Amino acid sequence: MKISVFGLGYVGSVLLGCLPDFGHELIGDDIKSEKVELINSGQSQVYEKDLIERIKKQSESNKISATTDDHKAIEETELCLICVGTPGNLDGSINLDHVETVTASIGAALKSKSDYFVVGYRSTMLPGSIENFLIPVLEESSDKKLNKDFGVCMNPEFLREGQAVYDFFNPARTVIGESDPKAGEKMELVYKGLDAPVVHVPINHAEMIKYIDNSYHGLKIAFANEIGAICNRIGMDSSEVMKLFFMDDKLNISAHYLKPGFAFGGSCIPKDLNAIIHFAKQLDMDPRLLEGVLSSNSRHIERALELIQQLGKTNVGILGLSFKEDTDDVRESPVVKLVNRIFEKSYLRLFDKQIFISIWDPHVNRSELGQVLPHFIPMLKDSMEDVVKGSDIVVIGNANSEMKELNKYIKDDQIVLDLVKFFKKDELQNCEYVTIS
Ligand SMILES: NC(=O)c1ccc[n+]([C@@H]2O[C@H](COP(=O)([O-])OP(=O)(O)OC[C@H]3O[C@@H](n4cnc5c(N)ncnc54)[C@H](O)[C@@H]3O)[C@@H](O)[C@H]2O)c1
Repeated sequence: MKISVFGLGYVGSVLLGCLPDFGHELIGDDIKSEKVELINSGQSQVYEKDLIERIKKQSESNKISATTDDHKAIEETELCLICVGTPGNLDGSINLDHVETVTASIGAALKSKSDYFVVGYRSTMLPGSIENFLIPVLEESSDKKLNKDFGVCMNPEFLREGQAVYDFFNPARTVIGESDPKAGEKMELVYKGLDAPVVHVPINHAEMIKYIDNSYHGLKIAFANEIGAICNRIGMDSSEVMKLFFMDDKLNISAHYLKPGFAFGGSCIPKDLNAIIHFAKQLDMDPRLLEGVLSSNSRHIERALELIQQLGKTNVGILGLSFKEDTDDVRESPVVKLVNRIFEKSYLRLFDKQIFISIWDPHVNRSELGQVLPHFIPMLKDSMEDVVKGSDIVVIGNANSEMKELNKYIKDDQIVLDLVKFFKKDELQNCEYVTIS
């Protein structure tokens, strides 16, 4: 393929150095003529392991060239990869000025192009940037129609500086967010030669994944450092202790606990988090991340409360009270906390109307619940059917397999708030289905 690369910084230069290995011919484009001249003389301004040698090799075999002429770059290629910077503003928002400018210029060049063209974005952008902002710029500047005259893809870049060439050839996956399958198929051809799964997704998923990845990477580093600092303070070798942590690839280094759902609870996680925070504070430490974990968890319960309040219904049915499925344990259950918060707000007249709650849980024992939460007993019903038939809104609080029966009882004028994402979207017929995560 003939591919143009806009922006010859870290991301764009790595593409020039690596993509010709798959048989493609590349034209680099940058507003800075010195970067263009360097590429045309087989050099690169970017220092990156193995990259200088690669740029030299690709240039000598005439696989790459560079220009400042956007029109020429588009005219001579069938797909472009936009790698211009999206720097942060002082308030934390991202600055889309460079992508907007380059998009408008590419659009203007597309005016005189008769063949179908694919505009690919590699620059990191928040979800919605392409569909709400850049596609309208492209359509307006080109006077052409998306998915008829041109297609758009978001193809996020996951490289790490310092290992960029290695990462290019060894990705975990290639993500292609596409405006239509035709554009996505063309983008997939760019990476034919890489031994990694290719995933086709909506454009906003491809924008979002980069932020999920980087937030998680930051979280992992902060976690390791905070735990390391506590261990260090008591003279323990944190690297050795973490080796034990890494050995658990079932619960620790795995997808477990990473599925969006409801807040954690139970007799262990909150108690142990509180204990380690208290321990660290006694050591005159300030365990902000661990405290943040508890605070974020409480906020998630408030999110559910706020949604119930917004939905403005009178009869709230709760299915599942224990802190998770297949147990009768209600200690520190987030669903118990939610019910108490509804109770409290209703009592204080903070809702527009009085709220009536009914609860069913297949495993919770009435007399044992009465000993710890006596005020819950009048709300407890004997069957799912009893709860559902008297409710305007049905809240699924845990993932007991019995929840599958809900389809039998739910009616189209009812709302289901599925806190644990027990059902897949559209799996429940005849009702409004909402989630909080
Ligand atoms: N650097 C990384 O490790 C990395 C990794 C993944 C994703 N990203 C993302 O990729 C994007 C690019 O990052 P980078 O580090 O390569 O940026 P960079 O600042 O090194 O390079 C951007 C290049 O774009 C050029 N440019 C600006 N406006 C232009 C225009 N209108 N036409 C042509 N060229 C133009 C600049 O002159 C510069 O050479 C950013 O959105 C970044 O967040 C970077």
